[in-house]
Amino acid sequence: MPADLVIVANRLPVDRVTLADGTPGWRGSPGGLVTAIEPVMRANNGTWVGWPGGTDADLEPFEFDGMNLVPLGLTAEEIELFYEGFSNGTLWPLYHDLVAKPEFHREWWDSYVTVNRRFAEKAAELAAQGATVWVHDYQLQLVPQMLRDLRPDLRIGFYLHIPFPPAELFQQLPWRRQILEGLLGADLLGFQLPGGAANFVRLVRQRVGHKTHRDLVYLPDGRTVRAAPFPISIDAAGFERLAQTDAVADRATAIREALGNPRRIFLGIDRLDYTKGIYARLRAFSELISDGHFDVEDAVFVQVAVPSREQVEQYRILRDDIDRLVGRINGDLGRIGRPAISYLHSSYPREEMAALYRAADIMVVTPYRDGMNLVAKEYVACRYEDDGALVLSEFAGAADELRQAWLVNPYDINGMKSALLEAYQADDKELTRRMKAMRKTIAQHDVAAWADSFMSVLGESDNGGHRKTVRPAKRS
Ligand code: G6P
Repeated sequence: MPADLVIVANRLPVDRVTLADGTPGWRGSPGGLVTAIEPVMRANNGTWVGWPGGTDADLEPFEFDGMNLVPLGLTAEEIELFYEGFSNGTLWPLYHDLVAKPEFHREWWDSYVTVNRRFAEKAAELAAQGATVWVHDYQLQLVPQMLRDLRPDLRIGFYLHIPFPPAELFQQLPWRRQILEGLLGADLLGFQLPGGAANFVRLVRQRVGHKTHRDLVYLPDGRTVRAAPFPISIDAAGFERLAQTDAVADRATAIREALGNPRRIFLGIDRLDYTKGIYARLRAFSELISDGHFDVEDAVFVQVAVPSREQVEQYRILRDDIDRLVGRINGDLGRIGRPAISYLHSSYPREEMAALYRAADIMVVTPYRDGMNLVAKEYVACRYEDDGALVLSEFAGAADELRQAWLVNPYDINGMKSALLEAYQADDKELTRRMKAMRKTIAQHDVAAWADSFMSVLGESDNGGHRKTVRPAKRS
């Protein structure tokens, strides 16, 4: 049955797992995007198109938890050229301030075009007359225009989850014009921050030569495209409820005990990615110990590094670097049963994450560049007693909203050391003052508000078609 709402994202909101009886099955992935989009999906008979991971070519559409999911397969070669190559070896570092050096290869680009076309064709096939299609993230920036060429009747939205870089960096890309034109197929382009939206509009004016005014681009065919900020968020109430369960409270106590009940627990949770600043933060922490500010009996750093993009060379190098650093720090500073850093290379379900957030006194989020960083927001949502400290990079999108965190420049190791020490020494009154203010922000700007505001601005876009309006989500 044709869908009134189609979500197009590189990943499906489920992970492939082996069930207890040994057969393959699916498990909902813990990502926030699903939580946000699920209610709108349900209210609109929505369908989600995405890559299920792996190289299974012939998976049939299926229903999961009331959502219609349409798997789109990638070949081994496409995984290498489109996913690991152009998406994560070219665009990812280019859009994150060149934290690593992007590589430009023509065969990676060719594969990006091919895979984007397949996503666009699939969406065109699934969407009802006048339907809304919402395309997500940097892997699929050509889909909006490809889809518009196939189906001019559709209302098309695009949301970029990562930063959109300044013109000075973006123009290195040999295919810069094609990417801008691909995006301009949408009626509404959403960015995390005002700066990203402004970068885009400026580039369109300079590089493509279209007329622009504030957040609007005027196309020669009479269409207008809006480029605006919609900072993404989390299911704040859901996280808080989870954090308040007995199971999570008990697990948090068990974690603290297993760590030897130190005075303070520092925590980092990140995908193992070179944009996250894990190396620098661990060095800063270890120097506080070697400088004598505190001891391994007083404090421990728990670092969870979620395995990610392990076939990409830069990620392998990072893993080796972190392994070596953790080994060296623990070798130099640890005692029997008291490592300075408790390092976990693994991913965990939401419940365990909530328990870690509850157990931690100081959450340390220090990316060199990050679109938003939802971990910072999740920590705040779980601190329902208005305690705990957040040390946050000023280069994470979340820093725009979480102004009461200890904001740091992750390139400045001494500055980070001071912030970590201040957070370690802060009194209860100071912690409460800061956490209260941040919790208020998160409660007001949750992920439901994010999805609603994007959908309602998209609904206002009128480029002359006879399009259906997306029904708002029914919420309990
Ligand atoms: C970031 C991106 C997402 C991506 C996720 C996980 O959050 O914005 O588009 O899905 O990382 O990365 P992966 O490469 O495993 O999909």
